[in-house]
Amino acid sequence: MNFILDVKNLEKRFELTSGFLNSLTFKNGKLTKEKKAVHAVNGVSFAIKKGEVFSLVGESGCGKSTTARTVIKLYEPNNGEIFFEGNDITNISRKEMLKYRSKIQMIFQDPYASLNPRQKVIDIIMEPILFHKLANSKQEAEQKAFAVLEKVGIRPEQAYRFPHQFSGGQRQRIGIARALALEPELIVADEPVSALDVSIQAQILNLMMDLKEELNLSYLFIAHDLSVIKHISDRIGVMYLGKIVETGTTEEIFSNPKHPYTKALLEALPKINGKNMVDFKGLKGEVQSPINLPKGCYFCDRCNESLDICHHTIPVEQEITKDHYVSCHLYKGKDNE
Ligand SMILES: Nc1ncnc2c1ncn2[C@@H]1O[C@H](COP(=O)(O)OP(=O)(O)O)[C@@H](O)[C@H]1O
Ligand code: SF4
Ligand SMILES: [Mg+2]
Repeated sequence: MNFILDVKNLEKRFELTSGFLNSLTFKNGKLTKEKKAVHAVNGVSFAIKKGEVFSLVGESGCGKSTTARTVIKLYEPNNGEIFFEGNDITNISRKEMLKYRSKIQMIFQDPYASLNPRQKVIDIIMEPILFHKLANSKQEAEQKAFAVLEKVGIRPEQAYRFPHQFSGGQRQRIGIARALALEPELIVADEPVSALDVSIQAQILNLMMDLKEELNLSYLFIAHDLSVIKHISDRIGVMYLGKIVETGTTEEIFSNPKHPYTKALLEALPKINGKNMVDFKGLKGEVQSPINLPKGCYFCDRCNESLDICHHTIPVEQEITKDHYVSCHLYKGKDNE
């Protein structure tokens, strides 16, 4: 299979270094000092085919951004493997990673924070082109920058303005142009429309999909809301507390959800006659702490369908139907029935 990105059993934790009190725990009646960590990503596996849009979805804090940042090596993984176009990039040095940097580009949630406010747009786009030596002269870099800005709907005369002179939607267009300037193959888009008005969200999503077709891009798309990714994703991975609990085609996830958490996310989608519901309807409690992970299923405390086994045994991933995987004790794999 021709995967552009193949991630296997990825783990990322952040060691808690500060606070002596934070490191103290009671064990067998004794106060013990223990190294603690935020377990942000706990064994995530997924693969993206060339030209595919794979989306990760889940509540805030479930480890989506950390997964994205670890995959592109902004963070070093604690465990697991990352393959880009079949090349193992898990442990390569920063210098070696430079040759993949231009091929994998990231688009961020807050376009304003990710654009240098003191640089004119033309310079923002030209800088990476020159750094990665994708142009032989400043003039050629400028031409490339104009071309890519045109692709995202920014006119040449606007290129000499500063980021604050643009609207949120236009700034995200500039963020996309900066990513495209390096002629990437994979775009990692971390909640690229979450900060935008609903009316602008559709424009940006449409632009991203048009560019995908035109430039033969693949996407790792991240969202906290299933409605945002419904129309753009080929496949979806639902994340909870640093794990993917269900993966399937968009059609399967929406028409045949299996995991209780996926069902809850779908129930929380705005209803035709109702108001937008921000809360996850049907879910009790809050997401458990990623510092003290539960022993069994991570979703156990909030699940309405939990069994005894759920409290002490982590469910393993099962294939329910072709390309539809679920980690939940309620289901047996199609080969175990
Ligand atoms: N640099 C960091 N240091 C410590 N904890 C972090 C860091 N980045 C993220 N976390 C924690 O890791 C968990 C996952 O965060 P994140 O990946 O940002 O989730 P999401 O993008 O799904 O909202 C959260 O508990 C968050 O507080
Ligand atoms: S494994 Fe158990 S607790 Fe976890 S989602 Fe399935 S039924 Fe609920
Ligand atoms: Mg995030």
